[in-house]
Amino acid sequence: MKTLVASVLACASLLTFNHQAAAAPIEIKFSHVVAENTPKGQMALKFKELAEQRLPGKVEVKVYPNSQLFTDSTVLQAMQLGDVEMAAPSLSKFQKYTKQLQLFDLPFLFKDIEAVDRFQQGPHGQKLLKSMESKLLVGLGYLHNGMKQLTANAPIKTPADIAGKKYRIMTSDVLQAQFEAVQAIPLKKPFSEVFTLLQTKAIDGQENTWSNIYSKKFFEVQKYATESNHGLLDYMVVTSAEFWHGLPDDIRGELKKALDEAIAHGNAIALEKSKSDREKILTSGKTELVEISDAERAQWVAAMKPVWKMFEDEVGKDLIDAALKSNQ
Ligand code: SIN
Repeated sequence: MKTLVASVLACASLLTFNHQAAAAPIEIKFSHVVAENTPKGQMALKFKELAEQRLPGKVEVKVYPNSQLFTDSTVLQAMQLGDVEMAAPSLSKFQKYTKQLQLFDLPFLFKDIEAVDRFQQGPHGQKLLKSMESKLLVGLGYLHNGMKQLTANAPIKTPADIAGKKYRIMTSDVLQAQFEAVQAIPLKKPFSEVFTLLQTKAIDGQENTWSNIYSKKFFEVQKYATESNHGLLDYMVVTSAEFWHGLPDDIRGELKKALDEAIAHGNAIALEKSKSDREKILTSGKTELVEISDAERAQWVAAMKPVWKMFEDEVGKDLIDAALKSNQ
């Protein structure tokens, strides 16, 4: 009798355990490298809020900002290994996985964020979301940050001013070629190291958006910011194919809707921060704005535009043409 009771209890506790296991929410780790008060930081938090609100008890989104979990150079490999479910690296950080996304790094390609948006939402941009499927990565959408500016401890107005200066860049061969085209010295370094590199003067400058320059305090260790708008810093929200396609259809559908809304929220913040963070930096009195004239801008374009030709075969001329068309 004792044995029978013991077996029944064992079965019951096994059933309870199985029930709990079946009911455990799906954990979604979202890793990123920027601060929470940025377009990407806010987008990730909005995604968490919406996903957990609409799928109560079914999903749990854990957001890890500031490179707490992975840096941009390790996150995609970790995703392929199933150690993280979502991330939104800058488009400059995918070159190991697809050469086509190098398009977005070509200097002076898009005239503004509206043109970028037209391209990304058009057929070519949408196709690029699928360009890493063979590497088991799925693009779920684009998120804006903004146009990049050049910071330094000397006023940079023309390409001659930047020659010989060490600039931190993201891990992108296009960005390397862009700085080499103006005789600067590019150094590929993780975002998490930029502040210290600037503070210790191991590098002379860096390129970034107003919101990253503000939220990571680069403006506190750089005396000048040249409003060059020479390139783009946008993101692709990615997930692993195994994780995404393994989700029940209804959960995947709700998560995609939540993400689309979170991206729209992040894009509105990007637009607002490109103005407000610029103002905060300039009113801090720590960084002086350097404006460039049309003639000076023409010098930058002439020096950097040959980079397009260097990467035309890898990127594809059709993509470059489509991007240019989005400027009209
Ligand atoms: C980011 O905005 O995610 C980082 C950009 C950078 O590495 O400069």
